[in-house]
Amino acid sequence: MPGKMVLFFGVSTLLWMMIAASQAFKIETFPESRSLAQIGDSVSLTCTTTGCASPTFSWRTQIDSPLNGKVRSEGTTSTLTMDPVSFENEHSYLCTATCESKKLEKGIQVEIYSFPKDPEIHLSGPLEVGEPITVKCLVPDVYPFDRLEVDLLKGDYLMKKQDFLEDMDRKSLETKSLEVTFIPVIEDIGKLLVCRAKLHIDEIDSEPKERETTKELQVYISPKNTVISVNPSTRLQEGGSVTMTCSSEGLPVPEIFWSKKQDNGNLQRLSGNATLTLIAMRMEDSGIYVCEGVNQIGKSRKEVELIVQAFPRDPEIELSGPPVNGRPVTVSCKVPNVYPFDRLEIELLKGETMMKNKEFLEEEDKKSLETKSLEMTFIPTMEDTGKVLVCQAKLHIDEMEFEPKQRQSTQPLFVNVAPRDIAVWVSPSSIVEEGRSVNMTCSSYGLPAPKILWSRQLKNGDLQPLSENTTLALISTKLEDSGIYVCEGINLAGKSRKEVELVIQVAPKDIQLTAFPSKSVKEGDTVIISCTCGNVPETWIILKKKAETGDTVLKSIDGAYTIRKAQLEDAGVYECESKNEVGSQLRSITLDVKGRENSKDYFSPELLVLYCASSLIIPAIGMIIYFARKANMKGSYSLVEAQKSKV
Ligand SMILES: *[C@@H]1O[C@H](CO)[C@@H](O)[C@H](O)[C@H]1NC(C)=O
Ligand SMILES: *[C@@H]1O[C@H](CO)[C@@H](O)[C@H](O)[C@H]1NC(C)=O
Ligand SMILES: *[C@@H]1O[C@H](CO)[C@@H](O)[C@H](O)[C@H]1NC(C)=O
Repeated sequence: MPGKMVLFFGVSTLLWMMIAASQAFKIETFPESRSLAQIGDSVSLTCTTTGCASPTFSWRTQIDSPLNGKVRSEGTTSTLTMDPVSFENEHSYLCTATCESKKLEKGIQVEIYSFPKDPEIHLSGPLEVGEPITVKCLVPDVYPFDRLEVDLLKGDYLMKKQDFLEDMDRKSLETKSLEVTFIPVIEDIGKLLVCRAKLHIDEIDSEPKERETTKELQVYISPKNTVISVNPSTRLQEGGSVTMTCSSEGLPVPEIFWSKKQDNGNLQRLSGNATLTLIAMRMEDSGIYVCEGVNQIGKSRKEVELIVQAFPRDPEIELSGPPVNGRPVTVSCKVPNVYPFDRLEIELLKGETMMKNKEFLEEEDKKSLETKSLEMTFIPTMEDTGKVLVCQAKLHIDEMEFEPKQRQSTQPLFVNVAPRDIAVWVSPSSIVEEGRSVNMTCSSYGLPAPKILWSRQLKNGDLQPLSENTTLALISTKLEDSGIYVCEGINLAGKSRKEVELVIQVAPKDIQLTAFPSKSVKEGDTVIISCTCGNVPETWIILKKKAETGDTVLKSIDGAYTIRKAQLEDAGVYECESKNEVGSQLRSITLDVKGRENSKDYFSPELLVLYCASSLIIPAIGMIIYFARKANMKGSYSLVEAQKSKV
């Protein structure tokens, strides 16, 4: 430096001597000898003289290149303006001033550079803790770049420094960059990335030769630990509501999105809120709900399955029929409209005793309400009456503590007993005299108590209903009341029947015993001993011949006994009796047989005629009696009268 000073001093001394010699004609430039100009800027070089009234100026470059500027001279000043400065202005410019015969020259070295913008910091992606990241610092449009130095710092720590000492084989603006790859840590949050670019241009201090850009480190953490909490449960009742809250960790704090997974797998967005409340849930709302925590660098998802149970009604108990002692009956328990039935259990109990249970473990491939049932056949006994049939349906819900889901129905058992032990009493007797009253009483055991139905059996076997009272009262019976009476005990479990035969009898009366033609006949005569009884059939009449050795029952036809050719032995006492449960009548007659001298058979023609007539008369008498009886029946038949007529 001191050497240069000496040199400058020497030059100025020489100039001063020249000016002094030519009456102090002097030249000055601004800047004095060197100008540092940035490309694109506007730069002026000024040349001024003193000691001359009207000097002339000229500008040239030392190697006679074009000026690449505009000259403006006025009075003692000339200005060369370069606007904009370009590479073509990198020259040593000479200003020549002429005053009469005197000529002065002065040079200015123009140096150019380019450093127009702050560095740019580029990241290869968002910063994620633990994930390598490349940061690039870019310095655009630099010249001369062999003088460039770039430092990249993280906070106070210098990560990389680079000088671009390449050969400058051409004049051009270049963009230079520096790259560093590093792995961010959580402590990097908030630190500054600094990119500092320096352009080392000698002895220049007026222009900025250093530019820097800072960027705060934004470190991200991808969402993780996504957690869903469900209140009260993932299993809900139809109509119920549920609140689900989702949280996710990350930097920045992840946004929460709730969606529902559709059947095709797509997500249907529900809410952008961490808390999702679903109300009035329906069975179709069952499904997979998805929470996603999302931030700039990633997402994390969690799923939860909600099951809306439908268990709306109590089970229904049905019996295949009324339970009857000893008869199999099927009980079914139906649980209507249940969902999901894969967790359903049905139990059938009789009293405390479990009869059957079943778990429905089928796969559910569709969301639908189903009716499930359980059947059981058993044989009821009378001891079961008073017990209770219980159908219990349970939906097994593990996570649900607050409400064990269970429904049950009960049905008291009443075991019916089919009618049995049917018994009939006839008062006073099943054989009674016509005109008397008869009470026929029927009873039967059964549960419930059987209804009694009295009927009369018709000739064709059909039953003609008579009464539903237990006692069938026949007041003042008639002969036609005879017949078969049927009592039936009926309840819903069945029927039982008993038959009784009622016989109405008439006490014999008006019995007559006659001998025809006479009680006194001759040996060899024909005698007809005839017994008639008006109100009883002939079959009820017994005709006998009394004897010491024992009575002989005579074989009579229609009450008549014919003795042909009467012998002496035929004489004697003849007795006719008509007897039944309600009474008897007895008549006797004594037949006298006289011997004849002429013992030859004799048959008088008169007797034959009489005989023939009698065979007509006897039926005629019967008819008369019949009509008389008919007439009697039409009137009031008095029991007292009947008794009186008895002998
Ligand atoms: C989230 O839910 C809260 C409470 O229900 C509500 O106040 C808020 O507006 C909701 N935000 C959004 C984005 O839905
Ligand atoms: C029949 O029953 C009625 C009523 O119980 C009674 O008054 C009557 O004496 C009974 N008759 C006979 C023949 O038992
Ligand atoms: C018997 O039944 C008849 C109808 O069939 C009824 O009028 C009568 O009162 C009943 N008698 C008794 C004793 O129940």
